[in-house]
Amino acid sequence: MALSAADKCNVREFWEKLGENTKVYGTEALVRTFLCFPETKTYFPHFDLSGGSRQVQAHGKKVADALTLAVSHLDDLPASLSSLSNLHAHRLKVDPVNFKYLSHCLLVTLARHHPGNLNPEVHASLDKFLSYVSVVLTSEYR
Ligand code: HEM
Repeated sequence: MALSAADKCNVREFWEKLGENTKVYGTEALVRTFLCFPETKTYFPHFDLSGGSRQVQAHGKKVADALTLAVSHLDDLPASLSSLSNLHAHRLKVDPVNFKYLSHCLLVTLARHHPGNLNPEVHASLDKFLSYVSVVLTSEYR
């Protein structure tokens, strides 16, 4: 899956506008995922999954930071996410369908907070970006 030059530009420009809020958005996206797609909770039996819990907030920040890293490595995503790919496939064994749920909730969260910046072109580019990240993170899943 390749992102066009325009997609990369859209994603980078959009992500810059998020500033320090990425961890808040990461947390909101996780809360939405757990609520809208409850089966995703089965991967977190050791977490207190209430929305405001410190564990969910800390994890939201980790997911957001990983996405920020991905945005800064759009030309070499597989290499930059290889350890995360290994973790999700081999240790956590996350079924790929769950990445669609989280990606959907990330998009909804971003649209809610940045409606003016999410025109259809940027929407499409972000969707492709999240799909690409998901493809990389599930590439080792068997
Ligand atoms: C955009 C997609 C995703 C990204 C960027 C992402 C990122 C991360 C990161 C950065 C970590 C922490 C790794 C570490 O501490 O070394 C992590 C852990 C984890 N992820 Fe993901 N993840 C994604 C999707 C998912 C999905 C869809 C699930 C399952 C529904 C999932 C389940 C987990 C679990 C269970 C952990 C371990 C949590 C813990 O015990 O602390 N991830 N993920």
